Amino acid sequence: MTGRTSLTIVLAAGEGTRMRSAMPKVLHPVAGQSLLAHVLGAAPKGPGAALAVVIGPDQPAVAEAAKRVRPDAVAFVQRERLGTAHAVLAARDAMARGADDLLVAFGDTPLISAATFERLRAPLKNGAALAVLGFRAADPTGYGRLLVEGEKLVAIREQADATPAERAIKLSNAGVMAFDGRKALKIIEKIGNANSKREYYLSDAVAVVRELGLEAVVIETSEDEVRGINTKAQLAEAEHVMQTRLRQAALDAGVTMIAPETVYLAADTKFGTDVTIEPFVVIGPGVSIADGAVIHSFSHIVQASIGKKASVGPYARLRPGTSLGDGARIGNFVETKAATLEAGVKVNHLSYIGDAHVGANANIGAGTITCNYDGFDKHKTEIGAGAFVGTNSSLVAPVKIGAGAYIGSGSVITKDVPDDALAVERSQQTNREGGAKRYREMKTKAKPPKGG
Ligand code: UD1
Ligand code: MG
Repeated sequence: MTGRTSLTIVLAAGEGTRMRSAMPKVLHPVAGQSLLAHVLGAAPKGPGAALAVVIGPDQPAVAEAAKRVRPDAVAFVQRERLGTAHAVLAARDAMARGADDLLVAFGDTPLISAATFERLRAPLKNGAALAVLGFRAADPTGYGRLLVEGEKLVAIREQADATPAERAIKLSNAGVMAFDGRKALKIIEKIGNANSKREYYLSDAVAVVRELGLEAVVIETSEDEVRGINTKAQLAEAEHVMQTRLRQAALDAGVTMIAPETVYLAADTKFGTDVTIEPFVVIGPGVSIADGAVIHSFSHIVQASIGKKASVGPYARLRPGTSLGDGARIGNFVETKAATLEAGVKVNHLSYIGDAHVGANANIGAGTITCNYDGFDKHKTEIGAGAFVGTNSSLVAPVKIGAGAYIGSGSVITKDVPDDALAVERSQQTNREGGAKRYREMKTKAKPPKGG
């Protein structure tokens, strides 16, 4: 909405005891991002859009997580958990700075969209003091019920305080609200705690608005968008909804998926054109897949970039820091980590390539391992362009294999190998040297080696 400034306050001070976890509730992931990150991602952003997060007293990790997504987010600590209205007032200093629209959202409602925030802001332009996001709950138990008279919202009744007739109402409070920013503080400060739980309910803002002779309205949305996460079962339901959305978006963008219901995506997965993903693939956060690449079945990919027309799997594991150049091929039972594999590199079978740089068109034979860890530190392996590493070789890092070098099968390489050199393990040297010589002869005949 152009022209109007906003402050969004995201409430995340809850302990989340029903998650039965040592981790704060809002940091649990859906589609590879924390619940909080999803909410912050949907909240208004850009010039004139301020953001505050209300956290519990022992939750610095929540403030840090918020800052990672929105560096401009300001965290406020709610010392005592006295209810949602009390939590909003923890961010009083941010409110005092003044904004046209004050939005309140919950950190445990990850499926909310940016468009819904904007829909909720629209009535404020037309003079409403408060707009409440409502939905028709299949089972409204536990939600605040919206009491309406005609078009007008007159009150929200929390479950514990509702009469049997009120409990039959399905129209429920999603928890997201938009206030006229000039009146918000006055409204929220008037909220008392005269209810069965002795809590300051933000939902009572509706009754206050009515007392002040102002107008409150409901904006409706689907239940799927406002599912609150309180338990692991609800977390799994939210994951299901989110995966369905992400798969649909990928299909709409032209990604080919043979069995989309078996493919797990992350909220930030990026696709080029003509990407194919076979069944049973898991993609974690931070993955980009360029044009024409194919991800074969049973591959697991996290924080990796995959070049154009690259081929991954089946049964490949690309761990964080993997970068595959155009046309690179990663075959079955290959694991990579913190590894750059330039264009045309082949690692087709049963290998571990970690903390490594592999030059263009190098061929890494089956069973090759970069021995990157000496029990204390990680070390780097560099493999030059066009090198040929024979099967079952161990490259003991730190080590450099020169461009075009040939490593005989079964070698244990502990010293750097110069460009175009032949290197073999000491035992059975004669055999291996024979193989190396044949390779060199073939190479001089300018016949490119076949893939390993
Ligand atoms: C709340 C609403 C209810 C609505 C439902 C939608 C109130 C009183 N009730 O109920 O009308 O239907 O959400 O999911 O608002 N929080 C704090 N500090 C507090 C209390 C809560 O930060 O002192 C945060 C929680 O971390 C959570 C959010 O506010 O993110 C909502 O609190 P929760 O206890 O889950 O409220 P519900 O009982 O679900
Ligand atoms: Mg809740």
